Amino acid sequence: MNAKATTQYDERAAVTGTDEKAVSGGKSIKSVYVYEAPVRIWHWINVLAITTLCITGYFIGSPLPTMPGEATNVFVMGYIRAAHFIAGYVMAIGLVVRAYWAVVGNHHARELFTIPIFSSAYWGEVWAMFKWYHFLSQRPNRYVGHNPLARLAMFGLFLTTAVFMICTGFAMYGEGAQMGSWAERAFGWVIPLMGQSQDVHTWHHMGMWLIIFFILMHVYAAVREDIMGRQSVISTMVSGYRTFKD
Ligand code: HEM
Ligand code: HEM
Repeated sequence: MNAKATTQYDERAAVTGTDEKAVSGGKSIKSVYVYEAPVRIWHWINVLAITTLCITGYFIGSPLPTMPGEATNVFVMGYIRAAHFIAGYVMAIGLVVRAYWAVVGNHHARELFTIPIFSSAYWGEVWAMFKWYHFLSQRPNRYVGHNPLARLAMFGLFLTTAVFMICTGFAMYGEGAQMGSWAERAFGWVIPLMGQSQDVHTWHHMGMWLIIFFILMHVYAAVREDIMGRQSVISTMVSGYRTFKD
């Protein structure tokens, strides 16, 4: 392959994730290092934070009707809210660090933050994966980074909702932290934008169900791909290496 063809090949691979050169270049190449440690560590910390946020958030929205014991000795809702706010900080700071890693990390670290909307090759691969997930094709393609459909969901469903949850969450947090607090100054504008405080609560609550929808699809797809796909998936988010089965 001449130099120009190689460059075009690399560019296509970076956009679509189909790096045939990396997986079929030689029999000896079976594994490719994809997700660097900060991406993997962030993923699993983020899973813990979001799980905590969903459980505690649900109870903030639908508190237990009654608690046994003397009211002054019971601080359950206080602990639930404290856990929510700590996990909220972990999620928000984690996303900022993850965004920094998208700048300094490898090109797979950037996939979460960008969608190559003008690339027909990318949309072709999205369609191919759509058919594979809907049992309309016999065989999936092989991808080194995220598969293109997963990338669309991670950007369009997870990232945008996560940013929305952070903005609305800290807007409400700023109300409790009072006028002049950093949260009120940075995110206070969200409340009049949505109407009033209760509207922010409602939209923040709806955001939770959108994130839960993403998690259901995401975990189902990860387990299904691990079993039916042509490459390792869950272990890749642990070790960083994508191993090809064929
Ligand atoms: C709260 C739950 C979860 C959320 C919000 C979440 C979110 C994400 C996000 C945003 C990515 C993209 C990572 C990046 O590019 O930096 C990702 C990748 C990934 N997640 Fe999760 N995740 C969750 C739970 C899980 C669970 C329980 C599993 C395992 C069964 C899992 C397996 C994976 C795998 C294997 C990848 C990489 C997929 C690939 O190689 O293309 N995730 N997840
Ligand atoms: C995936 C992320 C998150 C989920 C699923 C989530 C979920 C929820 C839910 C369901 C509620 C109850 C809303 C209602 O019905 O009134 C809530 C309230 C709240 N959340 Fe979150 N949240 C998330 C992120 C955050 C973040 C990042 C912060 C920032 C600190 C935050 C701060 C708050 C605050 C201040 C409240 C109101 C507490 C109260 O009124 O007692 N949330 N959250």
